[in-house]
Amino acid sequence: ETKPRTPVLWLHGLECTCCSESFIRSAHPLVKDVVLSMISLDYDDTLMASAGHHAEAILEETMEKYKGEYILAVEGNPPLNEDGMFCIVGGKPFLDQLKRASKNAKAVIAWGSCASWGCVQAARPNPTQAVPIHKVITDKPIIKVPGCPPIAEVMTGVITYMLTFGKLPELDRQGRPKMFYGQRIHDKCYRRPHFDAGQFVESWDDDAARKGYCLYKVGCKGPTTYNACSTVRWNEGTSFPIQAGHGCIGCSEDGFWDKGSFYNRL
Ligand code: SF4
Ligand code: SF4
Ligand code: F3S
Repeated sequence: ETKPRTPVLWLHGLECTCCSESFIRSAHPLVKDVVLSMISLDYDDTLMASAGHHAEAILEETMEKYKGEYILAVEGNPPLNEDGMFCIVGGKPFLDQLKRASKNAKAVIAWGSCASWGCVQAARPNPTQAVPIHKVITDKPIIKVPGCPPIAEVMTGVITYMLTFGKLPELDRQGRPKMFYGQRIHDKCYRRPHFDAGQFVESWDDDAARKGYCLYKVGCKGPTTYNACSTVRWNEGTSFPIQAGHGCIGCSEDGFWDKGSFYNRL
């Protein structure tokens, strides 16, 4: 109770803000407990009360006062084309803000597929030359929490782990926390017995679809997608895309936009 809360700076580059939308719906732990009791969210240009020059002053102050102590959380990514002019924050390229804020960060979290892999804005032909943040931050490990967006409880779970144990969670070769990205959707999918039995949906709304058979033949990417959707699920564990009747599009995988995830078969 007497331990000072860890400062967190949450930056926004090229993105759609749905990673934040997901985060604010965390139920375990409740996001209000994370933001008001567990961390000190000193800067987040989407969620903070202040704006404009005042907000930018807080960013500068926190970076200086808590050198080497703050966690940098990044939603979205930097476009490199034309010196970063396609994403301006506080009158300057986001690219510069990202470089400066990462310099003295204790740890860096890449929220979502934008920050982790590039996502839609890096899809071909990528006119702004958007890149994942690890192309810019090269001097420290980055915890990648991919997904478009990531599951709320996965996001707050990563923060809770870091605050509780004072270290980064164990990461896989691609930099994702093993505790949430160690298995494929397919490994724990409740439709898996139908896959094993060769019972497949062949077209939308056929009899097999009504019976809840496996969605592999209508493009499900669960067999190649590492994420926690089939175990943690969404909306307080209520459901996930496959349970809603649509195959996984592999939204947590690198380059899923360019790999034909939408309605193409594997
Ligand atoms: Fe939005 Fe997806 Fe990017 Fe998150 S990863 S900001 S949900 S486009
Ligand atoms: Fe695997 Fe997808 Fe079939 Fe589930 S619906 S068993 S994830 S192929
Ligand atoms: Fe994304 Fe597939 Fe989960 S589309 S939300 S990784 S089931």
